[in-house]
Amino acid sequence: MQTLPLPIRWPELQQVARHVRTLAWAPYSGFQVGAALLTDCGQIIAGCNVENASFGLTICAERTAVCRAIASGYIQFSAICVSLSGNPVPCGGCRQFLMEFNPQIPVLLDNTDQPIGTQPDCVSLESLLPRAFRFER
Ligand code: THU
Repeated sequence: MQTLPLPIRWPELQQVARHVRTLAWAPYSGFQVGAALLTDCGQIIAGCNVENASFGLTICAERTAVCRAIASGYIQFSAICVSLSGNPVPCGGCRQFLMEFNPQIPVLLDNTDQPIGTQPDCVSLESLLPRAFRFER
């Protein structure tokens, strides 16, 4: 998969995503995920996964970040960093959720098994979700 140049603020995005990951509510899977969304006006909005005893209600870190951003009045996003231990890719549902706002958004794939400061891979959302569903009348 083709990689993109990292956005200049990648170290901040990594730091925020790794920090918010520690706040994840994940008592069932024990799997913590952090996301940091960069808005076009330079804000960084953090999100973590929030699990529930009714497992299907669980919300992923990426969607938490997007919902926080939208509810704060931001609709334009220029990068997102996803931090987790292992293969750091967003799930299919989160890819579709992000697609709504910016199909070209660079997605920083941050494996927390690597030390902070390690450059994450950076790929476009479109490459992660080719032929995404779009609602067209
Ligand atoms: N999870 C995320 O937060 N983001 C993803 O893209 C994949 C999965 C969370 C959901 C659940 O709390 C845990 O990881 C295990 O699936």
